[in-house]
Amino acid sequence: MVLETIFAMSQQKSWEITRFLKTLTYFDVIPFLNNIPVIKEMILGQESIAQPSFSPQKGTILVAGATGGVGKRVVQRLQQQNYSVRVLVRSIDRSRSIVGENLDFYEGDITISDSLKPELMKNVTGIICCTGTRIQPVEGDTENREKYYQGVKFYEPEVAESTPEAVEYKGIKNLVQLAYQEMQDSSYLPIFNFRNATEEIKSIWGALDDVVMGGVSESGFYLDHQKAVFSGNVSTENNGGFASVRTKNFESPLNLSGYQGIYLRVKGDGNRYKFFLRCDSSWDGIGYAYSFDTQKDVWLDIYVPFAELTPVFRAKTMNDAPPLDASQINSMQLMLSKFEYDKQLNPYFNPGQFRLEVEEIKAYREGKTPQFIMISSAGVTRPGRTDLDLSQEPPAVQMNEQLGGLLTWKLAGENSIRESGLRYTIIRPCALTEETEKEGLYFEQGDTLKGQVSRETIADLCLLLLKTPEAVNKTFEAAKSSEFNSPEMWRQKLSQLTTDS
Ligand SMILES: NC(=O)c1ccc[n+]([C@@H]2O[C@H](COP(=O)([O-])OP(=O)(O)OC[C@H]3O[C@@H](n4cnc5c(N)ncnc54)[C@H](OP(=O)(O)O)[C@@H]3O)[C@@H](O)[C@H]2O)c1
Repeated sequence: MVLETIFAMSQQKSWEITRFLKTLTYFDVIPFLNNIPVIKEMILGQESIAQPSFSPQKGTILVAGATGGVGKRVVQRLQQQNYSVRVLVRSIDRSRSIVGENLDFYEGDITISDSLKPELMKNVTGIICCTGTRIQPVEGDTENREKYYQGVKFYEPEVAESTPEAVEYKGIKNLVQLAYQEMQDSSYLPIFNFRNATEEIKSIWGALDDVVMGGVSESGFYLDHQKAVFSGNVSTENNGGFASVRTKNFESPLNLSGYQGIYLRVKGDGNRYKFFLRCDSSWDGIGYAYSFDTQKDVWLDIYVPFAELTPVFRAKTMNDAPPLDASQINSMQLMLSKFEYDKQLNPYFNPGQFRLEVEEIKAYREGKTPQFIMISSAGVTRPGRTDLDLSQEPPAVQMNEQLGGLLTWKLAGENSIRESGLRYTIIRPCALTEETEKEGLYFEQGDTLKGQVSRETIADLCLLLLKTPEAVNKTFEAAKSSEFNSPEMWRQKLSQLTTDS
């Protein structure tokens, strides 16, 4: 196809083969050329050889207590689902063998506020807090804490190190206070911030004009005073009529599941432009397009809802295409074209000079999701309650005093979250087990629930909560249900729970 285009177009006068090759080389369309550095350098110039790779900034999920039974499973799932993960651990060296190497580690102790610096919250859009006072059998445990983790057979327990007051209350309060001051609002996920752009941002956007089809339009993308400018000259000569800039494929696909769409802050010239997302990594695959109008010299907020994107292949709509997979965004593109879709004309199109300024590209979500998810415990309100027969309660309730007021301090920690101003969800699991079979979940409020639930299931629930606005500002108990139900059903049940007053 490349050679045919070169031959056909070289017959036409004004077409530039060097720009054609430059475009294909820039986007790595001709792998054999790119594998020969001398040729690549000849076509693109010296800079091309040492191009930095770029991944758009992703919202980071912070996991506190990442080395624990629930925490390590949460981390594993976040990585599988392509989240950017930071882990707060007390010893990085010790943690590597538990959670793996490829993580953004932060060493700190929640009970020591000085060890929690603002950098801990950099880019953080969600926190999953799985910390807990270290409890062990009085008789001792194995190196892997097998007696603690099994959760079925009773071993006389004791507090192993820091007190519940320090971990469950002061520690949680320290973390919550810092989160409230420093955390980003998770309703937006910054992707390209051209107000504060880096060289990497510049290097990932490249011109992709109708030169690839034989046309002579020419555009570029450059940074200028805290914004990016997409500008050039669009021409209909040689049956052309589009100019665009596209990103190379991101280093790893961007996971925008849970978001409703893309927000663009732009200032245009009255033209109608298109914005594209691609969820496969191929050069010439399906693009998901959205047209937006601009006003000359007026800054506009453009919202591009994923649900309103049109799947297109070379400007032909593809009605049978699957909907956009927002968890796999590989590239973005901005375009000015003579055509809308299926040969319909762009009603505002005028050939010639054009200019679109872009300040910011972010993902947005409409419903606000929880910012702080805490694993607390069933039973936190039960010590001292007169409406309950304490002799029928689980050991943690009966032994609350002996365990340094473990549940009482957990309740105080919960209260500091409820009072914080953050959007939160507090899960109070019943006895935790190491069961690996898939389980259904049962939720209740009022703190009388008894039962068991696996750490695997609680980790699955945490991941669901990150995308569940229906769970915001709710506290509930959770146990394995007698019948299996799926996370979709959990979402429904969560929506029926009462919001905390
Ligand atoms: N066991 C049960 O049946 C049960 C039932 C209901 C609720 N829960 C609660 O559920 C939560 C998760 O349970 P789990 O079994 O996964 O707990 P776990 O395995 O004991 O993990 C606790 C985590 O907290 C971390 N941690 C402790 N003190 C810390 C501190 N001062 N600063 C930073 N991190 C600290 C630990 O880190 P290190 O590795 O450095 O120690 C560990 O990663 C806990 O809050 C637990 O109380 C347990």
